[in-house]
Amino acid sequence: MQGKRAPIQAVSINGEDPKVKPNAISGVRSLALGCAIIAVCGWAGPAKAQAAGQWKDGLHLYTKVCANCHESGVGPIIRGRGEELAPEYYQFVVRNGLRAMPAFRPTDIDAPTLKQLSEMLPHMAPPGGGK
Ligand code: HEC
Repeated sequence: MQGKRAPIQAVSINGEDPKVKPNAISGVRSLALGCAIIAVCGWAGPAKAQAAGQWKDGLHLYTKVCANCHESGVGPIIRGRGEELAPEYYQFVVRNGLRAMPAFRPTDIDAPTLKQLSEMLPHMAPPGGGK
């Protein structure tokens, strides 16, 4: 066990100049840089899918966004509650959030789709078949 690291010595393997070739290093570097760029661009792709106008209609929005919480027990049931919840109230909660519920910007949920959803939700069938 040596106290100090011994200086690395270049050794010729097959009689060639043992000095490290600069080209070999830059080749490896640019390969690594290329990988990094691909990784970064790869991440930018899916983010673009989040654009206003992506919702076919209110039901599409409900199924893709609201239902994740409101049909899974995370948030309360919000369909089929009739007069209890006004369309304006749905719109207010979606834009401003409510305690554990996040707010959604117009770039995530456009106003016409939100309006349509808020008008259909009170009249949708409540869960459990509604006997
Ligand atoms: C990340 C989960 C999540 C998503 C997504 C979500 N919500 Fe909520 N929402 C909640 C939670 C949790 C509450 C209960 C907040 C509280 O009272 O503390 C809530 C409450 C509400 C309320 C109030 C209900 C009441 O009884 O007063 C409305 C209205 C509502 N959400 C509408 C929506 C709509 C419309 C969407 C889809 C555009 C949506 N939420 C998407 C989690 C979510």
